[in-house]
Amino acid sequence: MSALIETEFADLVLHARGKVRDLYSVGEYLLLVATDRISAFDHVLGSGIPGKGKVLTQLSLFWFDFLKDMVPNHLVTADVNQYPAELREYKDELAGRSMLVKRAQMFPVECVVRGYLSGSGWKDYQATGAVCGIPLAAGLSEGDRLPEPIFTPATKSLDGEHDINIGFNEMVTRVGAQSAERLRSLSLAIYSKASAYAEERGLILADTKFEFGTTAEGIILADEVLTPDSSRFWPRDQHRPGQQQPSFDKQFVRDYLESIRWNKQAPAPALPSEVVARTQQKYLEAYRLLTGKSLSI
Ligand SMILES: Nc1ncnc2c1ncn2[C@@H]1O[C@H](COP(=O)(O)OP(=O)(O)O)[C@@H](O)[C@H]1O
Ligand SMILES: [Mg+2]
Repeated sequence: MSALIETEFADLVLHARGKVRDLYSVGEYLLLVATDRISAFDHVLGSGIPGKGKVLTQLSLFWFDFLKDMVPNHLVTADVNQYPAELREYKDELAGRSMLVKRAQMFPVECVVRGYLSGSGWKDYQATGAVCGIPLAAGLSEGDRLPEPIFTPATKSLDGEHDINIGFNEMVTRVGAQSAERLRSLSLAIYSKASAYAEERGLILADTKFEFGTTAEGIILADEVLTPDSSRFWPRDQHRPGQQQPSFDKQFVRDYLESIRWNKQAPAPALPSEVVARTQQKYLEAYRLLTGKSLSI
């Protein structure tokens, strides 16, 4: 199977293209189509991962359902047979990798929760003894579990810029105190429920990012949820603090890009077929471990 890099639905109104998703306006709703594009170091790479968009979509659907009693979400339907008539002709391309969603006014923050010390959190801790201004005990190692999960918001990057971590006070300035507190408590509650579940399935949810928005009905969970693109999942039985942890995400991709010493400037390189195949396997494995089902792409 080949990777779907970009959709071109001539009769539809393109709303936006993100790094991974193509968004179309469909009446009052949005159609989110997860392509097989993959990004690393804030660039979309020259190769896609066949079926990746289906894994991300199916995993998000799994989690929306799992979390539905805790937080309302943007899903209208992911059943192509229930899509509006104007989408019928694109049914084959849309099946499995798209969702019709409520259009939300997105909060301009990424709601990050960290339960373990990794990535930019680990770098921050080494430099400051804190993560995003939240002081932590001395002597923690890379990959250590934190005494309790922390909420570390970031700005939502606009085209190609890096996300920037912000303190909670800055978030209050951007979204208001009431929303900031609500988003923090929702994010921590979701992390707690999802990480306990993942752990039962043999996976550590080291950290994750949520995006929320508002509709007439109030705050809803939007975007993708608890996928390998938005989260770090680690195999529990291989957890060894004091080093970088093996992970169910773009590890092979990042390792490859480091190995060829790409300068992280556009244009981003293509990937060898071996790296594509192993990455595809990782995404499918994450889906299988988390849901207990295998996905045919
Ligand atoms: N329900 C929604 N209403 C409006 N915008 C949404 C909704 N759900 C997700 N989005 C936005 O759609 C985009 C998803 O595309 P993606 O490729 O993930 O973009 P990005 O490059 O910003 O990560 C994001 O900008 C996200 O904020
Ligand atoms: Mg995104």
